[in-house]
Amino acid sequence: MGKIKACLFDLDGVIVDTAKYHYIAWRALANELGFEFTEADNEQLKGVSRMRSLDILLGIGGITLSDAEKERLAEKKNENYRRYILQMQPDEILPGAKELLLELKEKGIRIALGSASKNAMTILDRLELTDLFEAIIDGTKVSEAKPNPEVFLKGAAELGVSPEACVVFEDAEAGVEAALAGKMRCVGIGSPDILGKANLVIDGLHQMSYTRLMTLGSDE
Ligand code: BG6
Ligand code: MG
Repeated sequence: MGKIKACLFDLDGVIVDTAKYHYIAWRALANELGFEFTEADNEQLKGVSRMRSLDILLGIGGITLSDAEKERLAEKKNENYRRYILQMQPDEILPGAKELLLELKEKGIRIALGSASKNAMTILDRLELTDLFEAIIDGTKVSEAKPNPEVFLKGAAELGVSPEACVVFEDAEAGVEAALAGKMRCVGIGSPDILGKANLVIDGLHQMSYTRLMTLGSDE
């Protein structure tokens, strides 16, 4: 493992808690279709693409629909979801996230976003974080969903940094797998039970610093 030159951040669940808005919008859709959708069910949608999320939701309700109907429902859910994210404020940035981005930048670490969301630009703009990212790879720029490493490999390529010099921050198991499949180191944000494959698991970015990041390079 070489020197750490770049950090690639997932967005939802790492920099901001959008899961609560996704949940409200998916639950409204489920209720409209005549079934319940719980917060525990919502866990299955973390890190998963919009269409795959809809498939999981329909599976819970035992409903089969045509592709055209699925497109319509995914669009409807997204319109509802966007009503919430368009109201977001910079104070919704998770603790320590902005401070870490600023510290890493100051130390010369390159920074990119690697998110499955097609709403990533809207969210970054609302949080006033867009300018802190040198490269932004989101759901509009990839064809393969995590655990495929495409989103992170594109981020590294756009920064001009080799994957071995990158550290990924992820809250979803599929995201951790994507990072490792891309030959990058990974810090999991959340529970070691779910993210155990990561090189390190922490509760949130408030527990990360440049100094701690550097220890990831030295212990392997
Ligand atoms: C991921 C979220 O970041 O983006 C998933 O963890 C979500 O829950 C996915 O389904 C796609 O998001 P969007 O904004 O394109 O519907
Ligand atoms: Mg996430």
